[in-house]
Amino acid sequence: MIAVTRLGPADGPRLCRHLQALDADDRMLRFGHALDDDGITRYVARIDFARDTVIGIESADGTLAALAHLGVRAGRADFGLSVLPAYRGCGLGWRMFSRVVACSRRVGATELVCQSANPAVVHMAAVFGFRRLLADPAAALVLALPDPAPAPHPLTNPADALA
Ligand SMILES: CC(C)(COP(=O)(O)OP(=O)(O)OC[C@H]1O[C@@H](n2cnc3c(N)ncnc32)[C@H](O)[C@@H]1OP(=O)(O)O)[C@@H](O)C(=O)NCCC(=O)NCCS
Repeated sequence: MIAVTRLGPADGPRLCRHLQALDADDRMLRFGHALDDDGITRYVARIDFARDTVIGIESADGTLAALAHLGVRAGRADFGLSVLPAYRGCGLGWRMFSRVVACSRRVGATELVCQSANPAVVHMAAVFGFRRLLADPAAALVLALPDPAPAPHPLTNPADALA
């Protein structure tokens, strides 16, 4: 696997291929609603790569194995991330999640919001110290920034977390 890299407008077709490879359940978890292939194409076309941070991890054969899109509005950072099924369970989710937290700090967000219902993401958010602000179990998890950085997860590449 290649290091986490920042992606730009020229990577749009690769983003589409990555997201369109997700099945309906994954798309629901990634976007919070159902999205067909055309919807994904429109989503990618609307990304402002200058304003937002889009990062990915490439496999040795050039496949975009992992992808994250981080946006900050009025100091509040929000993100979506995905790892292709064939590459799951190997720590790529951790690497992307760690980088999302690091990027949020770097761009000056005051809080990072995790809207995901995916148990793996909720687990990672808990390790990073995200808290639910409301008693409602469906409420978003929020990490106040800046915060003392938690001890890196054993699967986290420290270079990723610091870059
Ligand atoms: C969520 C996703 C990114 C995880 O990617 P991954 O590469 O498999 O993640 P990792 O291998 O780094 O594992 C992440 C952690 O989640 C844990 N995990 C996995 N499944 C879990 C589950 N069902 N419940 C709790 N924790 C779980 C893993 O054990 C690991 O934690 P650990 O190392 O402390 O044991 C991937 O499953 C995905 O793309 N899902 C579809 C899209 C999605 O739901 N995106 C989230 C929207 S923000």
